[in-house]
Amino acid sequence: MIELKNISKIYQQNQKNITALNSVSLRIKPNEFFGLVGESGSGKSTLLKLMNRLEVPTSGDILINGQSLNQMNEQELRKMVQKTAMIFQQFNLLQNQTVKQNVKLPLKLQGKSDDALVANVLEFVGMTPFQDKYPVQLSGGQKQRVAIARALVTKPDILLCDEPTSALDSQNSFEVMKLLKQVQTEFGTTVIFVSHELPLIKQWCQRAGIMEKGNLLAVIEVEPEEVVTQSANYYQQVVEYLQ
Ligand SMILES: Nc1ncnc2c1ncn2[C@@H]1O[C@H](COP(=O)(O)OP(=O)(O)OP(=O)(O)O)[C@@H](O)[C@H]1O
Ligand SMILES: [Mg+2]
Repeated sequence: MIELKNISKIYQQNQKNITALNSVSLRIKPNEFFGLVGESGSGKSTLLKLMNRLEVPTSGDILINGQSLNQMNEQELRKMVQKTAMIFQQFNLLQNQTVKQNVKLPLKLQGKSDDALVANVLEFVGMTPFQDKYPVQLSGGQKQRVAIARALVTKPDILLCDEPTSALDSQNSFEVMKLLKQVQTEFGTTVIFVSHELPLIKQWCQRAGIMEKGNLLAVIEVEPEEVVTQSANYYQQVVEYLQ
């Protein structure tokens, strides 16, 4: 359970205060697939960054499984942050490292190594055949799958996704969403998915928060609709759509 209690975040820029979040309270259930929508600048990325302590709230507290981040010491915070992974719109892979080296990196930073686990997550995202390639040799969808593998290698409880499909075409978006759903169901991970794309929220999320100018306006139970099964085959998809 992730609990945000009256979270406000005010950035200071050129002696001006920018209120990115205004007393936001929210509970995200364990193993939920939670969506977050809102216009540009509404505070979505800030909200995610507070959950893995990339940013610290100006006021309010965040409780993860009942534990207050405000009250944790350095060591407890580090442990908690290690259980939270993040993926981004622009993938954020290291260009001069191979796929496999990119995936190993979080373990390396923790002073660990586990080749079997690295092989497992690469297999899970379907990137084993590309493990010795460099990011520049991959498509956008493949890069995001590597980023997901890199996120999974630390076995996170929470996966924060900041517009992970915004740079992808619809077929690759679908593949990435399918993978994120698999992460949620197979590993019990809580997935928080930020997107501008309402159809993706509708199709994949159980609940969604709507943000506007730093305020959380509402949290909606997403009505599951008959999922339009997308053909795995691109050619077939185009034909079905055009005919
Ligand atoms: N490091 C920062 N310093 C100053 N202001 C910031 C900083 N980060 C974000 N902001 C401001 O806080 C507000 C919320 O930004 P945030 O990035 O959370 O929005 P967002 O909903 O993710 O937008 P987008 O959809 O464009 O990614 C914006 O007004 C932004 O300019
Ligand atoms: Mg953002």
